[in-house]
Amino acid sequence: MQVLMNKVGVPLISAEKTLSHIVKYWVVVALLGQWMFAAYILSIYALPTIFGNSALTFSLSPGQGANTESSAESLVFFVHIIPAALMAMSGLFQLFPSIRKKYPKFHRYNGRMFLTLGLSGALTGLYLTWGAGFRFSDLGSLGVTFNGILIPIAIYFAWKAAIEKKFTIHRRFAIHSFILINGVWSFRLYLMGWFVVNQGANGNSASIDGPADIALSFASYLLPMAIAEVIFWAQRNKNNNISCEVNLASHSHQVPHIGLPQTAPVTRETKVTVAPIGARAIIAIKDVLTCQTKPIKAAIAIALYKLFDNTALGTCT
Ligand code: HEM
Repeated sequence: MQVLMNKVGVPLISAEKTLSHIVKYWVVVALLGQWMFAAYILSIYALPTIFGNSALTFSLSPGQGANTESSAESLVFFVHIIPAALMAMSGLFQLFPSIRKKYPKFHRYNGRMFLTLGLSGALTGLYLTWGAGFRFSDLGSLGVTFNGILIPIAIYFAWKAAIEKKFTIHRRFAIHSFILINGVWSFRLYLMGWFVVNQGANGNSASIDGPADIALSFASYLLPMAIAEVIFWAQRNKNNNISCEVNLASHSHQVPHIGLPQTAPVTRETKVTVAPIGARAIIAIKDVLTCQTKPIKAAIAIALYKLFDNTALGTCT
């Protein structure tokens, strides 16, 4: 990517700002997409059920779950679907730093709701796929199954770190939880995007087990998770560079060309007003004869060189 430079060669666009803008645009687009997903769930599943028009749900739902004869499976199906609308409406607010700072209580309660519903969505989803048998094919269900297994793991670490107040770790796993919980949403986006790019199916099948279906079902969460990891790595690296510079600066007193401050001559002095302790001491010493002795030159030299030796040792170790 070409970076624009001004006349003195200073970059006009910094990588950091570009990344921050990209993240902002992504949040706006994702928010719209999430709300559309919530509107889809509400209009196809929630509202017809509330108003007793299940025939509408049966005719519009692309899956098999809405048409089941078993009331237990039907209950699990709706317990799986309806909270998905709630998560789609409020989940993204967890990622806004301003909301986190201004309304920490909202962040806590919304986060607890999102992670609890996400956990329930993963467990009920695994049951619907492998217990109730609502799957188009075994191979085509592997991507979403791995997604369903990773969700509780990411939630566990995000929650644990929040309780332990390890917020960097919490942020990392909360973002992975968010990506994983939204894996089924992004799979639909990736699939539709694939159809648009290829002007129709290409490596897809009706039972969602074509090579493109399988690749997209894994990529829908693994790709954004990998991108998130690259961003975390860049941020960690930036922080490490700063602390490295700080370390180097703090060690600069040992650099030979600067000299040893402990033994270097004092070139600046500050005038201070001292208490008259010395004057009082001289008067007191006059009266005590033992205090009027002076050390010989050799004793002064020994004491002085011992002092130099001690400071030199302290510097080198
Ligand atoms: C926690 C995040 C999840 C959300 C938000 C979610 C959302 C949805 C939605 C909206 C539907 C309705 C289908 C449609 O109209 O397109 C659905 C159906 C279904 N989901 Fe999930 N889901 C999640 C996780 C999972 C997982 C992890 C699995 C499997 C391991 C799974 C398996 C299923 C199954 C089997 C159906 C029924 C399909 C059918 O009716 O044939 N879901 N889910």
